[in-house]
Amino acid sequence: MTYQNITLEHAEADIYLLTVNRPKALNALNAATLAELGHALAHIAEDTNARVLLVTGAGDKAFVAGADIGAMQTMSTLEAQAFSEQGTRVMQAVEALPIPAIALVNGYALGGGCELAMACDWIIASERAVFGQPEVTLGIPPGFGGTQRLARLAGRALAMELVTTGRQIKADEALRIGLANHVVAGEQLMAKGLEMARLIAAKAPIAVRVCKQAILRGLDLDLANGCAFETNLFALAFGTADRKEGMAAFLEKRAAKFEGR
Ligand code: CAA
Repeated sequence: MTYQNITLEHAEADIYLLTVNRPKALNALNAATLAELGHALAHIAEDTNARVLLVTGAGDKAFVAGADIGAMQTMSTLEAQAFSEQGTRVMQAVEALPIPAIALVNGYALGGGCELAMACDWIIASERAVFGQPEVTLGIPPGFGGTQRLARLAGRALAMELVTTGRQIKADEALRIGLANHVVAGEQLMAKGLEMARLIAAKAPIAVRVCKQAILRGLDLDLANGCAFETNLFALAFGTADRKEGMAAFLEKRAAKFEGR
């Protein structure tokens, strides 16, 4: 598939870089862009050599300025439902990736853009980043999971405030409320993303994948069942060659060479 609205490339051999690329519309998400994102995410999910995904927006102004308002303007109720379902599927595909996904938020992350960033496992924001769910200004609620993920990330009261007022927040506030993990200067954003991606890529790939599963699935479980799930994944990891290599390397005081087996 040739992409018109996104680019998918290898930032490094095992690190994917996915860029929403419609800078003239501040990378707004229309149905075609969502379809391309879905296609790219399916490709990444099937790549057993993939270690990390970095997600960003083209240009220096926006990560993604939301769902495409021009495209939504003429939608019927049923078309809007299908659009919301499509966007929700894409956000779930990001979240369900077997590898960690890091959002590099380089500017406006509003509406669907904030939702895309929150579907990633964590956010690194540039000092220029602006986050928000301004949908109430347009007469709609968020439609790609914003009410749900913001409440889970920042808590009920802050989500309620931000979603019902549409108030936009800068990177420092996003950091303070736990929406962003790190804030860096704009020109450092890609370097910081790559630095973190390399840390992950250097670790045992199967262990990283099961850690993501344990945290993500465990959040939907009570503590006892979450811990039981973790125990099963812990035991599973003991069958891997990388587990033997990791422990042998520690005891032999050398760096481990992981192979993803
Ligand atoms: N959809 C479509 N086009 C958009 C867009 C969007 N979400 N955001 C920006 N654009 C377009 C503008 O229409 C403009 O196009 P033209 O040059 O052809 O006029 C271009 O991008 C540049 O935007 P601005 O001139 O507005 O740039 P600015 O610097 O003055 O303002 C901004 C930047 C504050 C991000 C402003 O563009 C803005 O408020 N955008 C809309 C943000 C928004 O409401 N997002 C939520 C969308 S609804 C949603 O996402 C629902 C959901 O949950 C699924």
